[in-house]
Parts: sequence; structure tokens; C-alpha cells
Amino acid sequence: MKNMTLKKLAALALSAVFALSAMTACSGSSSSASPAQDDLKEVTVGLIQLMEHPSLDEIRTAIEARLEEKAAENGLSIHINYQNGQGDASTINTICQQFVGDGVDAIVAIATPAAQGAATAAAGTDIPIIFSAVTDPVAAGLVENLDAPEGNITGTSDAIPVDKIFALAEELTPDVKSFGLLYNPGEDNSVSVIADVKAYLDGKGISYTEGSVSGTGDVQIAAQSLLSQCDAIFSPIDNTVASAMGVLADEAIKAKKPVYVAADSMVHDGGLATVGVNYTNLGTQTADMLLKVLTGTPVSEVPVEVLRDNAVMVNAETAEAIGVDVSKYAE
Ligand code: TRP
Repeated sequence: MKNMTLKKLAALALSAVFALSAMTACSGSSSSASPAQDDLKEVTVGLIQLMEHPSLDEIRTAIEARLEEKAAENGLSIHINYQNGQGDASTINTICQQFVGDGVDAIVAIATPAAQGAATAAAGTDIPIIFSAVTDPVAAGLVENLDAPEGNITGTSDAIPVDKIFALAEELTPDVKSFGLLYNPGEDNSVSVIADVKAYLDGKGISYTEGSVSGTGDVQIAAQSLLSQCDAIFSPIDNTVASAMGVLADEAIKAKKPVYVAADSMVHDGGLATVGVNYTNLGTQTADMLLKVLTGTPVSEVPVEVLRDNAVMVNAETAEAIGVDVSKYAE
């Protein structure tokens, strides 16, 4: 009872605060720090997302929310032209050429293949490109120097802490002696992580088998094949596998084997565990970099931001289904 009353009081107090701030917001608009609506500079941003899967959607939502929150105080009225690349290189190229033809003020590209398409389409123009969640911008051929991007391209990176993920795997499932590596070799973001993974496993004397997919429709058969040969699966930060994560998780649970992944969304969708970054933070940072560029900072002075706020994530349901103890990490 006492708790209830306290809660109610807190709710009342909160609504009073909201009412007050709403009032000040209305009456105080003339003294606000943001320029009046008419003084805002109108800009158009072409926003391309490789495909729709939960992590990329989370990033886009965070970018849009941040731009909406911060545009006016940066003197901008931002029109976002959002297009989905459907995971298809020629669709991506068409969209990016359209952005260039329309003379957008900047392009934001979510995920590596989208950023590569944007870079190709905007080459030779002065349209800045801000990429988002590109795992290895150097290997993807987007920039050479992360600290001082030389072209008109910068952005955020979700570099993958391979050693931390495999240390977690060793801790949770010490009996695993072989990994199946499931990925799309057409994604440079995956290829770069897989190279690190192979070096890591070679160093530890752990064996591995590669299983490649070229589209989401290949994931089930490739997963079954790897599960029949290996003790566990690792999938890097692969957009193709992420789009079919439910299928991979079901197969692994049937085989009672762990799947280690490289993104929180893939744990949410049934993978056993990962160590990874927060994609809402990554989207927010991408938007802040775009705002800098749109307000006149040269891209060369906006270094690539590599996120390193890594956290362990486990799926307690998957763990229970395959008999792995994750109690140390489950909330
Ligand atoms: N980092 C990926 C890339 O470079 C994009 C990505 C972000 C992603 N979050 C993900 C891929 C989650 C798979 C799962 O393209």
C-alpha cells in the first residue's frame, strides 16, 4: 500500500513537471535558442539502408530521432528521403544514382554494401557520405585513414571484438572443439571479421569449416550442413545471415548446439551469445556526425568513430533449450 501511494505521488509530481515544461515550451518560444522556423536552412538527405533487419532498423530509427531532436538547434530543416536497398546491389546503385541526380546535400548509408554503392555513385561529386555501422571501413575501400578521412566519406564503425566473443564462447561452452563459420562472402564486413576469426582459431589450434551463403534462402541448408560437422556455429556481422537468424537459431536448437554471433539483434533472434555494441548509440553518433557536416565542418575534420562500448549479451531461452548455463550473464 505504501509503495502504491508513493508511486502515485511520483506520477503526479511527474505529470506536473511535464505540464510546466509544456507551458514554458509554448510561451517561451521567442526566447528559445533555436532560430525561428523561417530562418532554418532547408536540406535534403538521401538515406539508404541495405535491407530491413532488426539491427539496421534500430540504427535508422535512432538516426531519424536524433535528427528530429537536433535539426532546429543546428539551424536546419532536414528532409529525409529514405530508400531501402532490398539487399540488392543494382537496386542500391539505382537509388544512389537517383540521390546524386537529385543533388541531395548528403547521403547517409546504413551497412557496408549500401555505403559502397553510395561511394561509387557519388564519386567525383562533392556530396558528402556519412556511413553507419560499417564494420571495417578500410577493408571495404571507403577510407584509408580513419582519423582524417581523405575523400568526402566518414561515418561510424561497429568493429567486432573477435577475441572477446571467442573468449566468451570458451567460457560458456569449453567443450567446443570445432566451429562452423557461416557467412556471405559477398559482404566485405563479414570477410574482414572471418579473416580475424581464422587467425584467432589457428592460434588456439581450434578447427573450423566454412559455410557460405549468397542469399537468405541458403541459410537453412548451409546451417544444417555445418551443424552436422561442427560443435558450434559462429556467424559474423553478416546482413544476409541476420535476415534469416530465426532459421539458423531453430536449426541449432534442434541440433542442441550453440550459435555465437556478432550483434545483439542476432542474440535477440535466437543466437546464444555475443559481445557487441549498442546500435542506438551508433545511430545517434552517425546523426551527430551528419549534423557537423551539414553545418559546415569539412568531412576531413570529422574522424570515423569506431564504437567500443562492448557488452555481453546472452539469450537465456536458447541457453536453456540447448543446456548451457548462462546464469552469470542473464539478468
Ligand atoms: N556492420 C554491418 C555492415 O558492415 C551492418 C550491421 C549492423 C549488421 N548491425 C548488424 C549486420 C547486425 C548483421 C547484424 O554491413
